[in-house]
This record gives sequence, structure tokens and C-alpha cells, in this order.
Amino acid sequence: MSRLKIALAPGDGIGPEIMAASVALLDAAGVSAHVEFVPVEMGAGVFDRDSRGLTDEAISTVEQCGIVYKGPMATPSGGGGKSINVTLRKMYGAFANIRHFQALPGVETLYSKAGVPVDFYVIRENLEDTYGGIEHRLTNDVIECKRLISAPGCDQVHRAAFALADRLGIALVHCGHKANIMKMTDGLFLERFHKAGENYPGIQRADVIVDALCMNLVLRPQQFRMVVLPNLQGDIVSDLAAGLVGGLGFAPSANIGNHVSIFEAVHGTAPDIAGRGIANPTALILSGIMMLRHIGLLRQAAKIENALLATLEAGVHTGDFGGGPATAVKTMAFVEAIVAHLGKQPSTREPVPVPEQHSVTFTRPDRPRVNPLLRTYEQMVSHHVGADIYIDTLLPVPELAEILQRLCEATPFKLTLLSNRGTQVWPTGSPFTEVVDYYRARFQVRDTNMIGVLGQSSTVSLFNRIAEKFQVTDFQPLKMYDGQAGYSMAQGQ
Ligand code: NAI
Repeated sequence: MSRLKIALAPGDGIGPEIMAASVALLDAAGVSAHVEFVPVEMGAGVFDRDSRGLTDEAISTVEQCGIVYKGPMATPSGGGGKSINVTLRKMYGAFANIRHFQALPGVETLYSKAGVPVDFYVIRENLEDTYGGIEHRLTNDVIECKRLISAPGCDQVHRAAFALADRLGIALVHCGHKANIMKMTDGLFLERFHKAGENYPGIQRADVIVDALCMNLVLRPQQFRMVVLPNLQGDIVSDLAAGLVGGLGFAPSANIGNHVSIFEAVHGTAPDIAGRGIANPTALILSGIMMLRHIGLLRQAAKIENALLATLEAGVHTGDFGGGPATAVKTMAFVEAIVAHLGKQPSTREPVPVPEQHSVTFTRPDRPRVNPLLRTYEQMVSHHVGADIYIDTLLPVPELAEILQRLCEATPFKLTLLSNRGTQVWPTGSPFTEVVDYYRARFQVRDTNMIGVLGQSSTVSLFNRIAEKFQVTDFQPLKMYDGQAGYSMAQGQ
């Protein structure tokens, strides 16, 4: 029988220690009869040779395997080195970051002491949002980060969430967002959530503004079973969630994509305890269990999970939880205890049902010939109606407005708005609004009969006229999509 190849990246810091321990446990549970781990080179040590932090051989192995089991990897602070973790997720389109937070026996928390059950999933969009890392310095004083949210990107993560909820029998899924402020980007995320959910009539949908979500997670975590969030909000909420179940040592994650999926703990390289053999491998083991379920080794996954629960119940622990360092065992001894519990079940909580399925069902998708194109709104009709032109200037507002009005006199556009940091300062506004050296000037068609007649070149001509007089730092055409404005209003407009 040929074994499924899985790329194995031990990582940096505590990575190699917890990975060796986790793989020893998987071996003991019989996983190696079905799986062959292929080591790949990525991590801090590779940055000297390759600015991506991973070698060409590693890329090729990952693409062939389609599954990566990885330890945490250090991101160099400052400089140009990007996070390998983020690079991997983005390069391979691992769009849904699934994180499971459950109270575990032997892991005492405020909630476990109060008898409040905690068991929920955070599904974080993994590719878009501010994690695009698209940043520009626009003026002396202003730097921009572009926050991109796409409809297909939203659909991928929402469909993954509902499919998982359906599989797990979860009856209520929340969408966390900030659509009250980011009406278009988070508004799209929320709209696509409801659309994806229509295919699951048995699952109830609710939405919650992310700040209220944080408060409610702390007050009443038991009311949540699954929350889907945009990337940055999902990142923050999942660390909050890790705090509810005893810390990062207990937070596993799966990054699911159509072609490559990556399984890793939520925590980092823990440089403060690296090399001492004392790190907690639970989060990486739980991530390994998610990986086994993803590839079809359901029986082995359940066996390991029950053994882990029974071990925690028995009070065996590493230094970061349980009785603390005085009674702690080292990483390897912790895993040896789990191996000794294989075949046993927890007694203080429901054991995980052990299914019959115990062979690989995962089939690696074919290598795409070109980058797969994702499309959603195929039939939309769009028309140019103006442009937002961003200007680097220290001129006072009335003077700036006067010059811009003059510059657009002989064009199809009129100046309708000046805003600074998103707040309208002309034609109305308050002199108390403090401004910086970066204005948005909004130009819109004078004659609405021209909508549908004007093309992009008319706004580009306007841009050129403005650029003769000012430092233009950004240009954004204004368009209507199926009759709806494809741009936001300024604050105070
Ligand atoms: P961290 O998660 O490495 O450590 C935070 C604290 O939690 C430390 O006190 C650490 O000792 C403790 N801790 C974390 N995991 C533990 C474990 N398994 N057992 C016991 N204690 C544990 O976060 P930090 O210090 O902010 O980041 C360190 C490095 O890790 C950075 O270079 C960062 O970029 C990287 N990182 C990598 C991630 C990944 O590979 N997915 C995720 C987060 C951070």
C-alpha cells in the first residue's frame, strides 16, 4: 500500500521539540502505516539563503504533498523578511483558518472553575484583509494599508464554515464583523455569509459586531459554537479565545485550501523556553488530530484524542498549566504518558466516538496549469461616474477647494467633496476637524445623462490636469455597479 506523503516542517524555537514529540505519538497510534512524513526546509535558518524563508525544494515538496504539518516559525522583526506562515497560507490559497477552542480536563481556567462549558470554533478568513500587506507611504505624514475583501474570498471561507458546522452538527453559526463602520468591505463579508448560509437551512445564522463579540465571549462563551471572521479580527478574537481555554498551548489550527492545507498550532516559537524540552505539545498534537481527520484517518484521530484527554484527566502536565512547574513533566514524558493511554477513554467527559474509518481518503488535487480564477458577480454592469483624486498638500481647505474647482471647470466633472482622513471638510464641515497633508478630492459628473457615455479616459484626463498643479498620491475611479455606488461616503457627508 502506498503511503500518503505529508510535508513535515518542524519550525524554529520549540518547534523541533514539540514536532518530534507529536510525530512520536502519531507513530505510536499507527499513523505511519498510512503516512510518510517528508521533511522540508523552512524557517529562520533559511532567510540567509532565500528571502522567502523556504527553499525551492520545500515549495516543490509542499505542492506535491498537498498537506503540511508544521511547527511555529520565527518572523524576523523589521527588515524585509515576511512571515513564512503568512506566505505559505497565501501562496497556496489556504483560505479558511479553522481554530478549535475547547475546555480540556486538567486545564484549570476561570470558566472550568465556574462550571461554564467552552467549546467553539473560530473560522478566520486567511488570505485577504490587511494581511495582503499592501502598504504605501503616501505623503510625509501618511501611510496607507489597503484592505482588500473579495466576494469569492468571502464565499470560500463561509462555505468552509457552514460545511464544517454541518459535519459537526453545529446548529448556530455567527458572523463577526465591523460592517457598521466598514460598510462596504465588512458589509460584503456579512452579505456573503448570509448567502452561503442559505444552502444550509438547518443551521441558524446570526451576526455580531466584533467588539460586542469580544465582550460576549468573555461574559458567556457557552453561547457560541462557531464564529466566522475576517482575517485581522479573526486573528485577534482567536487569541482571546485561546485565553478562555487556558492559553496558547491548547489552541490548534488547520489552514484549509483547495490544493494545499497546513496544520499548525496557533502559538509561536516560544523563544523564552526553546531548547529546554519543557514546551507543551498539546496544541500541535490537536492540530495533528485535525490533519488526521482531514485525510481520513478518523479512527486514529479519535484514539489519540481520547488518550490525550485521559492523560490530561490523570493530571499529567507540562510546566505551563496544571500544577505548575513543581509537578510538571517534560515534553517527551508528556507524550509518553499519552502513548501509555492509547486505547483508554476519558471518564469525566464524553469520550470522542471512535469511527471505523481508518484509511486515507484524501486525494491530492491536480496541479493547476494556470492560477485558478475565482469569479462571483459575472453579469454586473458598471459605469464611470467620477474619481477620487488624493493630493499631498499643506494648503488650507478653502484655497484648495477654489483651485480644484477651477482646474475641473472645463471637464465633465465637478468637485463635490474634500475629505481628510475620511472626514468631510468641504463643502461643509467643521474648522475644528484637524487635518494632515493628504486630501481626498471627489469629482463627480456634472450631468447625470453622461453616465454610461463617459469612459475611464475622461477621469484619467482629469487626473492629468490635477497632476500638473499638485502632487497626486492616489487615484480611484468612482463607478456604479448595477446602479449602486461602488464607493463610500465621507464621515459627515
Ligand atoms: P509565542 O506564542 O511564541 O509565545 C508567547 C508566550 O507563550 C511565551 O511566554 C511562550 O513561552 C508561551 N508559549 C507559547 N507556546 C507554548 C507552548 N507550546 N508551551 C508552553 N509555553 C508556550 O509568541 P511570541 O513570543 O509573540 O512569538 C515568538 C515568535 O513566534 C515570533 O517570531 C513570531 O513571529 C512567531 N510566531 C509564529 C507563529 C506561527 O508559526 N504560526 C504564530 C505566532 C508567532
